Amino acid sequence: MGNKRSLQGKVAIVTGGNSGIGASIVLKLAEQGANIVIDYVANPQATDRLEAEIVKLGDQVIGVDADVSQVKELQKLVDATVAKFGKVDIYINNAGVETRTSVLDTTEEQYDKVMDINLKSAFFGIQIAAKQMIRQGGGRIVNITSVHEDWPMPGNTTYCLSKGGMRMLTRTAGVELGKYNILVTGVGPGAVETPINLKTMNDPAEMKKLDASIPLGRMAKPQEIADVVAFLCREGAGYMTATTVFVDGGAHASKLGVVMICCRSNRQKRGSVFVKRA
Ligand SMILES: NC(=O)c1ccc[n+]([C@@H]2O[C@H](COP(=O)([O-])OP(=O)(O)OC[C@H]3O[C@@H](n4cnc5c(N)ncnc54)[C@H](O)[C@@H]3O)[C@@H](O)[C@H]2O)c1
Repeated sequence: MGNKRSLQGKVAIVTGGNSGIGASIVLKLAEQGANIVIDYVANPQATDRLEAEIVKLGDQVIGVDADVSQVKELQKLVDATVAKFGKVDIYINNAGVETRTSVLDTTEEQYDKVMDINLKSAFFGIQIAAKQMIRQGGGRIVNITSVHEDWPMPGNTTYCLSKGGMRMLTRTAGVELGKYNILVTGVGPGAVETPINLKTMNDPAEMKKLDASIPLGRMAKPQEIADVVAFLCREGAGYMTATTVFVDGGAHASKLGVVMICCRSNRQKRGSVFVKRA
């Protein structure tokens, strides 16, 4: 999507912003002129590399090591942003994890971790960012949800629950915050080529089945998710709020996609390791 530098002078926070979809969002918003705050909890070298790329683009950037599952860390993230840039125009709830566990075998610890990182973080991130945006006269908030915000994925119950919560958070916060000129939208990806999907991506037979289940015949590239996020942050999306845009190649409208992606998840190893996918 074009409109180069259409976010010139804006300040954007991206949670979980140093890998996968988050890193693509960071670079896309920076390409369009935004100054960037990269929230991260792991791999500081990746944050350093992104910062160098953003500086080359002519924008300003800081990295903030903040665990989004803790409200005081979210406050630290927004405070650091305001201390450096004086404002928050764009807040992207991107950080996310999953356990591939079912309603029968999910532990309390797994449940709490997924809900805290995916949903509680989005709720309080919105609350803290919105208080700052109200002082400024408005802003944009984008929640990275998933097709699984309304599409059951057997064997990944807590993840679906968290994304379903983000769906309603998007709608309710969008309605509540409209009068403050704060627009809240969701972006719901299908299967995206991020490192977390490497196992599937490295298995030609699995990839053939997955591709066949998606009407557009392939996974998304992270940049294709970032393009839509950037659009939602621009003036041109000024009448969009309280809704989700799905970026899934048509998968969740396709019955075949339902069958294939659920089968894929059921075949994946279950356990206590936290991983993520669509
Ligand atoms: N890859 C897909 O197929 C896909 C599909 C649909 C939705 N999504 C969603 O997209 C978002 C990004 O996923 P991704 O595919 O880029 O995976 P990823 O693992 O590359 O990114 C997730 C990021 O969240 C960060 N994170 C984890 N716990 C955190 C915490 N407590 N505090 C701050 N950051 C934390 C990780 O360090 C990482 O940077 C997630 O919300 C995910 O659910 C991904």
